[in-house]
Amino acid sequence: MGTVNISGYGDDLTVNGIRIGDLGPAEHEAIELDKGGQNYAPLEGVVVSSVKDSSTLICRKPDPAGVKAYIEEELLDGLCCYSAVNQGQLNKTIVDAVVAHLQNEKIPTVPRSIRHKYMAAFLLAATAITKMDKVVPKVAGVEAPELMAKLSRRWGYRVKGIPANEAIIVVAAENFHGRSLFAVSASTDPTAKDDFGPFLPGIQVVPFNDADALEALFKEKGDRIASYIVEPIQGEAGVILPIAGYHQRVAELCKEYNILYCVDEVQTGFARTGAHFAHQLYGVKPDLMACGKAAGGGIMPVSFVAGRRDVIDVLTPGSEGSTFGGFPLASVTAVFSIKAMVDEHLAENARKRGDRLLGHFESIRQEFPDKIKEGRGAGLLTAFEMFDKPGLDGHKVSLKLLEDGIYAKETHKTTVRLAPALTITEAGIDHIGDSIRRVIKAL
Ligand SMILES: Cc1ncc(COP(=O)(O)O)c(C=O)c1O
Repeated sequence: MGTVNISGYGDDLTVNGIRIGDLGPAEHEAIELDKGGQNYAPLEGVVVSSVKDSSTLICRKPDPAGVKAYIEEELLDGLCCYSAVNQGQLNKTIVDAVVAHLQNEKIPTVPRSIRHKYMAAFLLAATAITKMDKVVPKVAGVEAPELMAKLSRRWGYRVKGIPANEAIIVVAAENFHGRSLFAVSASTDPTAKDDFGPFLPGIQVVPFNDADALEALFKEKGDRIASYIVEPIQGEAGVILPIAGYHQRVAELCKEYNILYCVDEVQTGFARTGAHFAHQLYGVKPDLMACGKAAGGGIMPVSFVAGRRDVIDVLTPGSEGSTFGGFPLASVTAVFSIKAMVDEHLAENARKRGDRLLGHFESIRQEFPDKIKEGRGAGLLTAFEMFDKPGLDGHKVSLKLLEDGIYAKETHKTTVRLAPALTITEAGIDHIGDSIRRVIKAL
């Protein structure tokens, strides 16, 4: 029979005689390789330990003198958990609320089969901020596009009148909607798909930014198409922006063919792009929207689908659900994540700081026109792309930035994404810009 002895907190946390504070980066890596599934390739030689302030991580690196297990250094968080920490690490508004609710309000954990008083607050806040009629809470980001797919199909059969089991969902090439079977069935990335088949039927792919291709498909199969699910800006694909007029035309086509226009804002939502939700940058209104990541303020996983009343109303008791979707602590966390975003004017800060970071990218491009192809972004969802030439390697750049105290990570071989906390200061942005300049110069 397996036994486990657990004691202490923080560095004193000890599991079966192994004290966490004694482990250097190499030992952490060895344990992860031995005991964990290999679904990620974390940056080498660094382990995050704690938070100094909203944009600064304390991390452990190998001791160059080889005397201690590790040294501790500050790291500017240029990625903030792929936009899950838009409000900044340990945002005070959210942490205070969570602590107060756990300690003073004695918040319970109950399932959705009994009402709790915080659900009302969550629904009021989430419908107000999204300007949508109704909201359905979930937990992980991937569950939100997954639910949009289910809602689309049921709406397609019950409202639009698509013959049973013939509904089609259209998605964009190079999309990223997560790792569920719907998401990987919709994916065009072989790494995400290989040997995970058979995939879900009823999914068709069109190129992103090609409204003509979408129209042609709608013309051909519109009677059976329930929805088009698309990211307003493709984040994981390397921050690919829509061309001018794309989303407006998509919204019009969806209306014309009675097809739901569904946006996946798991990464672009919650002020990341300089608007509360990225679709607002393009003056369109989706029928359904998936949110996640910063909906939980980096404190706990919270996701939801917001949308039109008549679409969300296809749900009936028992047809959908989630034990922890909208449970009391998640509801409180979401309410205060919204409050922090609004009270701290994070959309405005994302716009201002994003413009400044794009300015750095542009001056670095001008300085090194043979190395940098372009810098791009909206708000603080940004990336710079290098030419595909020997020596210009996104992973190498990430490791060099790490040495310089910046955490960023390549999205593709030649593209490096920067998406720091929306609370970042002007000095923080300049620090990122200066580091990138140094690293690119040395390449
Ligand atoms: C657009 C989009 N949808 C869905 C997801 C999946 O979210 P999660 O990893 O929390 O399940 C992501 C994650 O990066 C995303 O960027």
